[in-house]
Amino acid sequence: MTAESEWWRQAVVYQIYPRSFADGNGDGEGDIRGMIEKLPYLEQLGVDAVWVSPWYPSPMADGGYDVSDYRDIDPRFGTLADADEFIADAHARGLRVIIDLVPNHSSDQHPWFQAALTAPPGSLDRARYHFRDGRGEDGNLPPNNWPSLFGGSAWERVTEPDGKPGQWYLHMFAPEQPDWNWDNPEVVEEFDSILRFWFDRGIDGLRVDVADALVKDRDLPDTPQEHDSEYGTWKRFEGSPFWDQPGVLLIQQRWRVIADSYADSPQGARVFCSEANADPLEKLVRYVGPGQLHSTFNFDHLHSEWTASSLRHMIDRSITAHQAVSAPTTWVLGNHDSARVASRYGKPITGRVYTTLGASEETKHWGAEDLERQPTDVALGRRRARAAALLELALPGGAYIYQGEELGLNEVEDLPAAVMQDPSFFRNHGKIRGRDGCRVPLPWSGTEPPFGFGADTWLPQPADWAQITAEAQDGDPSSTLNVYRAALALRRTLPALGEGRLLWDESWGPDVLCFDREPGVSCLVNFGADPVALPAGTRVLVASGELVGESVPSDVAVWLAR
Ligand code: NOJ
Repeated sequence: MTAESEWWRQAVVYQIYPRSFADGNGDGEGDIRGMIEKLPYLEQLGVDAVWVSPWYPSPMADGGYDVSDYRDIDPRFGTLADADEFIADAHARGLRVIIDLVPNHSSDQHPWFQAALTAPPGSLDRARYHFRDGRGEDGNLPPNNWPSLFGGSAWERVTEPDGKPGQWYLHMFAPEQPDWNWDNPEVVEEFDSILRFWFDRGIDGLRVDVADALVKDRDLPDTPQEHDSEYGTWKRFEGSPFWDQPGVLLIQQRWRVIADSYADSPQGARVFCSEANADPLEKLVRYVGPGQLHSTFNFDHLHSEWTASSLRHMIDRSITAHQAVSAPTTWVLGNHDSARVASRYGKPITGRVYTTLGASEETKHWGAEDLERQPTDVALGRRRARAAALLELALPGGAYIYQGEELGLNEVEDLPAAVMQDPSFFRNHGKIRGRDGCRVPLPWSGTEPPFGFGADTWLPQPADWAQITAEAQDGDPSSTLNVYRAALALRRTLPALGEGRLLWDESWGPDVLCFDREPGVSCLVNFGADPVALPAGTRVLVASGELVGESVPSDVAVWLAR
């Protein structure tokens, strides 16, 4: 078992996307009041912590990842007093609270960016962001060829106060999200202060948005990478001038010192989970370990296909790489940026192929656009997603549950264009559907939309979610919700689960994964078409689906007591 001060090494963290979680004031958008009302639900679910996606004041050009004030709460979500109440109430129930830190960019409505717009080129106000003159005869070409991750150029030209076209500013995401200049000590100090503001308010940790992007090559050279100018690029590559620059690790070491300085507070030192996409894995784990951040999302897990061999290789590689830096591995099946697992696993291609070396060359760069065109068998996907949950929760390290995974929610793949909000949908002229389909408000109760939200929800819910509301699943012992509850309750009581070793049982064929956790627990997942017999002398603790006599059918996982 892990010491209480090291709770993060094996914590199960539930991601709340506030706009879509629970609606306390009945306006069709989630809010903090709703989050407070659902704390008993989360307590009963049995998670250890929550991670709240941005709740700060924001024009919502990118779902809150465009922050206009880092020290307040957006009125649509409530007030700072509501946030304090949420944190206190969560703590009273034994739940830790992690919030999102968005340090790569602000909103274009942030007072510092507004000041930069009215200040002259070369001013201190502009030096907090990346302003540059354009190329070409009259500066009408962007300063370099960098792509925005949401498509198009990463540069936007401003109109100077005199009304003439002027300099350009860098935005690796939407134009409404100008990138901070982390070479400027004022920016560094501002974020030190933001960290302390929230740590002093009692939060237990921070999830760091695009942690590998903060620092740019100071010369802002052209990128040698070929990119699809329509789709932008999330792909990391050796020699990139905007990903994984050495200075990033120095900033994070500085933050670690701040978090550690809270060690003597009642909650203990505060923690970080980084959203870094550094590739390969050996590069990624430089972000974590003693003196660095505590943990990092394991996106190889999220991207892996649903096969025994890919998952086996991904698990082995992840554990080995993290052990080398004394950091726990994390396991992630979904988040607010990716198609829901219950839909991904119901497609003919379920993800990337992993080998002992990592993602195969052929599938490495598959993105949303490749996968979303495939047809979905939701019933199959849901069945696999439940098995995937038992696999995830039996692995050593921490685990993340994206809101609604515990209900088996599917991606809403038929949202009409008129309701779409994700900037990546618009910047790609609708060629990729973007991330709205995983952000549809949760179905809590009742038999028709808005399913416990107060009014028309900000994204429409499918009518067939009537069968999978939290209320509908509550009393059904075989529901997805109750599989999660049972597994999380066992995880709390069984010392074998959480951190510690995993020992593969190699006696099974290629379509079965089976491993032991000590003392006395095994996890078996059947990926094959035919049922496999339960090992002799074992007792089923929890199963993701109905067993056939003494056999585990296709796409079912079980936890066994030995
Ligand atoms: C990653 C976040 O998870 C995503 O939602 C956001 O669009 C980008 N970072 C930019 O902040």
